[in-house]
Amino acid sequence: MKMWSGRFRQPLDPEFEQWQRSFSFDRKLLKYELEASSAHAQALRKAGILTAEELISILEGLKRIGDLAQSSPSFLEDNEAEDVHHFVEKQLASLIGDRGYKLHSGRSRNEQIATDLRLFTRSSIDQIRAELAGLCTTFVDRGEEADDAVMPSYTHLQPAEPVLVAHWLLAYVEMFLRDADRLADCRRRLNFSPLGSGAVAGATLPLDREFMASTLGFSRPTGNSIDATSDRDFALEFVQTLSILGLHLSRWAEEMILFSSNEYGFIHLPEAYSTGSSAMPQKKNPDLLELVRGKAGRIAGCATALTITIKGLPLAYNKDLQETQEPLFEAAEIVMRILPLVTGWIKIVEFNTAEMLNASDSGFMNAWAAATYLVKKGVPCRISHEAVGNAVKLCLERNCELNDLSVAELQAVNPAFGSDLYQYLAVSAVVALHDVVGGTAAARVKQAIKLTRERIESLRGEAHAHA
Ligand code: ARG
Repeated sequence: MKMWSGRFRQPLDPEFEQWQRSFSFDRKLLKYELEASSAHAQALRKAGILTAEELISILEGLKRIGDLAQSSPSFLEDNEAEDVHHFVEKQLASLIGDRGYKLHSGRSRNEQIATDLRLFTRSSIDQIRAELAGLCTTFVDRGEEADDAVMPSYTHLQPAEPVLVAHWLLAYVEMFLRDADRLADCRRRLNFSPLGSGAVAGATLPLDREFMASTLGFSRPTGNSIDATSDRDFALEFVQTLSILGLHLSRWAEEMILFSSNEYGFIHLPEAYSTGSSAMPQKKNPDLLELVRGKAGRIAGCATALTITIKGLPLAYNKDLQETQEPLFEAAEIVMRILPLVTGWIKIVEFNTAEMLNASDSGFMNAWAAATYLVKKGVPCRISHEAVGNAVKLCLERNCELNDLSVAELQAVNPAFGSDLYQYLAVSAVVALHDVVGGTAAARVKQAIKLTRERIESLRGEAHAHA
């Protein structure tokens, strides 16, 4: 039986009937639909609409639907179900008879879908945050293992200054921890229960909304039924946050692709995550990285699809909102599959630290340190900058590095230069010079590793507490 056929005189156009259904994708919400329906059934009992016996039978029926869906996937092959709400109602009636139809008393699919989607998003957030904790730990582990290895850092993709490999890896952890934090924020804002909001104006029965909210682990009922049945901010925020996470992963992937090229030679691509070419026998291609970079585009597409779907919708529920489901599911699914793969990749990738060191030792990455040397001797910054610039110019003419110049040559550029400059220019000394909170000096990075591990532990604790 349809959920709404009473006032219709004519049957639906068969093609339209198929096309407007959502069960092919909203079956993903079955678990949440069953949880929310159990909470509603209990509220109906409290309101005196169901007898104790009817409640038991409905709760058993709902449980049986969940079990059947688990044990036989073909159970979900129902080509009459319009959506997940209709599916549950139909199955319940076939399991426990007409009393199953009592479950829908006083509620609307508009509040149900709003509730199911919040539950789905909340659970996805908890899983993704737990995965992010694993990913961040792996980055920190690799950083700790890299110890005092150095590499060039770049600005404008031009060699800038040497940094510790650990410092570079921790930069990515900062991004991922911000993503985890944004997800926590989104979770806090979504954790309100729409149940009892009805179709738009609120339930028509005296349902205990606080009770339903706490049964489902929500902090409170939503405050306005018109908003609650039409709001998809939580989906938008979640997918936009995932699209930022996608950008971070994409930037990381791009950098790994560059660094694995022959031209850089900083990393050896793990064979377990690469493929060859059907034509060129010598090839080992960075497929995982390229797909991660590509998926970021897909996630951004999901965020855009959601935004444009919601834009211009008058209050309250409109069927356009059914179109918010697939981009939400797709973005969550992409991220959930990417994160363990990236973690696996980072775990085994080999850093070519000899090549990184070699690259750090040339290209005047110690020029700012040389200028700082002069500043410490009392030379004004602008003048020291100019002096080192002149020294670099001389080196470029001679095709050498700053430390290849003699003291006399240096003093001709600026008399404050002395022979103690050379030790100042060594890669390790340049790294050590950046001795500030958040800088790359070894002791600072060690401290950053410790603090970062603490932040990851608290993220892991929160993610587990919710799971
Ligand atoms: N399948 C619908 C959706 O996802 C459920 C809500 C239907 N509500 C309605 N008034 N037709 O949006």
